[in-house]
Amino acid sequence: MASIEASYSDKVVRQFAVMTVVWGVVGMLVGVIIAAQLYWPALGFNLPWLSYGRLRPLHTNAVIFAFGGSALFATSLYTVQRTCHARLISDKLAAFVFWGWQLVIVAAAVSLPLGYTQGKEYAELEWPIDVLITIVWVAYGVLFFGTIAKRKVKHIYVANWFYGAYIITIALLHIVNNLSIPGGWFKSYSVYSGSVDAMVQWWYGHNAVGFFLTTAFLGMMYYFVPKQAGRPIYSYRLSIVHFWALIAIYMWAGPHHLQYTALPDWAQSLGMVFSLVLLAPSWGGAINGILTLSGVWHKLRTDPILKFLIVSLSFYMMSTFEGPMMSIKTVNSLSHYTDWTIGHVHSGAIGWVAMISIGSIYAMLPRLLGLQKMYSTKLIDLHFWMHTIGLVVYIASMWIAGVTQGLMWRATDPENGTLVYSFVESLNATKPYYLFRLGGGLIVLSGMLVMAWNVLRTFRQAAATTAPQPVLSPAAADARA
Ligand code: HEM
Ligand code: HEM
Repeated sequence: MASIEASYSDKVVRQFAVMTVVWGVVGMLVGVIIAAQLYWPALGFNLPWLSYGRLRPLHTNAVIFAFGGSALFATSLYTVQRTCHARLISDKLAAFVFWGWQLVIVAAAVSLPLGYTQGKEYAELEWPIDVLITIVWVAYGVLFFGTIAKRKVKHIYVANWFYGAYIITIALLHIVNNLSIPGGWFKSYSVYSGSVDAMVQWWYGHNAVGFFLTTAFLGMMYYFVPKQAGRPIYSYRLSIVHFWALIAIYMWAGPHHLQYTALPDWAQSLGMVFSLVLLAPSWGGAINGILTLSGVWHKLRTDPILKFLIVSLSFYMMSTFEGPMMSIKTVNSLSHYTDWTIGHVHSGAIGWVAMISIGSIYAMLPRLLGLQKMYSTKLIDLHFWMHTIGLVVYIASMWIAGVTQGLMWRATDPENGTLVYSFVESLNATKPYYLFRLGGGLIVLSGMLVMAWNVLRTFRQAAATTAPQPVLSPAAADARA
């Protein structure tokens, strides 16, 4: 086994693992800044590139594609080698994928504050960057599937199915939604218009959640939860059913983002029904992960990495219960446009996506560096509690704010049918919760800084153990012996 370990191509995995932490800190810092701007709007300082409208997409792109993306590149390229007993097909291609993706991120970080945008949520980047993404993504696909093709194990482990589905689907979504006519280097016009444009955008948007923020992270779950628990996955058969059910259903649920819009009514209902059905595979998969701990539940008491992984699954269950409920038209009429959606997003994003990524990086990094464990387990535990507490403060405040907004906006006077509250009154009612959200976000961000410190010290430790030992004089060597 040791010889197989040594022959893996892990430089790219280490690079992406480090950038996960770096972009996590940056993306969440921008999240904290925009959370502060929502409480103190003057923090935009009247500078266009610091305005909320430009920093918000910077936050979403940084946390989803830079932080989440780096975690996915790192773990997928780590997992595919271990489960296939094969080295990546090419180190050069791997380096191209790493540097290409970093270039995409830097281009986004420059162009979004400058105001260049296609105006499509989660697909804001202008067409030259979209072309670059396509090239890097194809290279990534070749690297991943090429490694699977030269595997030395007959079976393709289920985690690779999830990663594989994500790579193929993201390519499809990216190309279809970004079809546009360039009108110069920094401007383009979508080939779609009207409600077709809206439908294509939310087919993309929802499946970006479904395949980028969910399916791929389930791949992570299927490798790292059993590894860290030291147990096989609870039911392999269930994992296969989970896979096919999830990818068959996700594609149809997009219209739940467009309830009560100009989209045909039947399409809205279709989106709602498929969203409700989606609850079953989502919970089936999560339960499969959690029950993997059967017989070793006690490990949760002492292993904070396992706590990250398992609690992430609890938040996954929570957001995949909440999502189907919000897709019901009558519930959506209350939740849409309110901070309830923001609460839902972050229970999925900071709860599920960030926690499973953080847990997996903590599990993977020492192995990548030839160490037994991270520099400090206590600091991982501290990070776990900071992350969990900050997250709960964030989402609880958004739920209260959201339901308050929804109820105030719809309240009508039974006598004359006029609205009871003005919009400003609803803003005043929800403002205190924005301060709570900012506090929660600051705690989550501080936890990320604890992680960065722990990662840095772990690298230093690895460097110290592999550094050449000082040559002792024969007398000193004798004395030591
Ligand atoms: C320190 C942690 C974080 C803070 C303080 C934060 C803050 C914010 C704020 C203030 C918004 C705008 C809300 C609005 O427009 O009303 C937002 C939106 C968003 N954030 Fe975060 N965020 C954090 C972490 C994350 C993470 C880790 C992810 C994903 C992995 C994420 C994904 C998103 C998404 C997708 C949206 C857009 C939601 C929508 O359009 O409905 N955030 N965030
Ligand atoms: C069964 C699974 C899920 C269903 C059926 C679902 C359903 C929904 C619904 C109905 C909305 C509100 C649409 C609106 O009123 O505008 C929504 C928004 C959202 N959900 Fe989910 N959700 C699910 C899971 C998740 C998970 C696990 C995540 C994150 C990792 C997530 C991320 C988001 C985001 C980012 C938005 C905001 C989109 C936007 O308007 O910008 N969802 N979801």
